[in-house]
Amino acid sequence: MRRERPPIWIAILAAIGAAFFVVPLFGLVVRTPWGDALQSVTSTDTLQALKLSLIASLSSTALSLVLGVPLTPLLAVWVALFDLVPQIGGAVGGIPFVVLGLTQGAGTGVACLIFFSLYTQFENFKGGAAMRFDHYQIQVTNVQEQTDFYAEMGFRISEYMAFDDKLLVTFMFRKPGTQDIVFLENPGPRLHHFAYTVSDSHSILRVCDVAGNMGMGDVVERGPGRHGPAGVLFVYLRDPDGHRVELFCDHYLLIDIEVEPVAWDVRKPGLSLRWGLPPQACWFHEATHFTDVKVVELDGKRGPVMTLERYLSEKALAKSGS
Ligand SMILES: [Fe+2]
Repeated sequence: MRRERPPIWIAILAAIGAAFFVVPLFGLVVRTPWGDALQSVTSTDTLQALKLSLIASLSSTALSLVLGVPLTPLLAVWVALFDLVPQIGGAVGGIPFVVLGLTQGAGTGVACLIFFSLYTQFENFKGGAAMRFDHYQIQVTNVQEQTDFYAEMGFRISEYMAFDDKLLVTFMFRKPGTQDIVFLENPGPRLHHFAYTVSDSHSILRVCDVAGNMGMGDVVERGPGRHGPAGVLFVYLRDPDGHRVELFCDHYLLIDIEVEPVAWDVRKPGLSLRWGLPPQACWFHEATHFTDVKVVELDGKRGPVMTLERYLSEKALAKSGS
């Protein structure tokens, strides 16, 4: 019996489909830095991605077996592989799972869809659950000069700290929150931290728990606590390269241009915190250098700072004297 050849349009569609797989694979193979392969494969990020992929594959396999979804072994491999792909991997991995579930009936399909939707939420909101980028803090030797420059570009001051007439910190904004960029007097220019907003106070505690459960509790450098300026709940973490990241919730909004900036006198106690412990000395002194930019020391002495070390020693002294 003579086999009929498939229509040409099917061959074209098949070729296009194959190209979607072959071209990216070829690009990956060509552009992969094979020299760093072993280090990359054993890195914390990769191991975490593999762990999530395994969880996705095992959980969808278990549900498939319970619901009688066909092609379960193939689905398990498919979900595991695509779960490793950032952004779209979860969807590409989960859609066949839902479609095959539908072949067993509407109820099975809906159950697969609900599982897939909930799992995607779980996976997308891991770690710090940052919602959006918010602001930078830069250490500079002359806060007044930087503030004047940015004010000329349209930035406004929401709050500031001063020692007599000298500006030590300014919080400047363009969006209606309290800050897009913050200048702090210290040797610089250096990046002190960048900050992301989270949805609620629970996320602040959760990220500390996530770090602790991963054996990385020491990356929590400062907090949780509540700032004096802007009144936000915060925590500061150090990333694997030592850069400082702040997670916080949330600013008040500044819309009325007639609202005067809030002034803070650094000599007053409890200035930088509504509650929580003062920062370690490293929080003041360690910051990220900009490539090929020389760090300039301060002319005179820096304004007064309360470090955790000083706070504890003063407490201990007071206790031993009483
Ligand atoms: Fe900040």
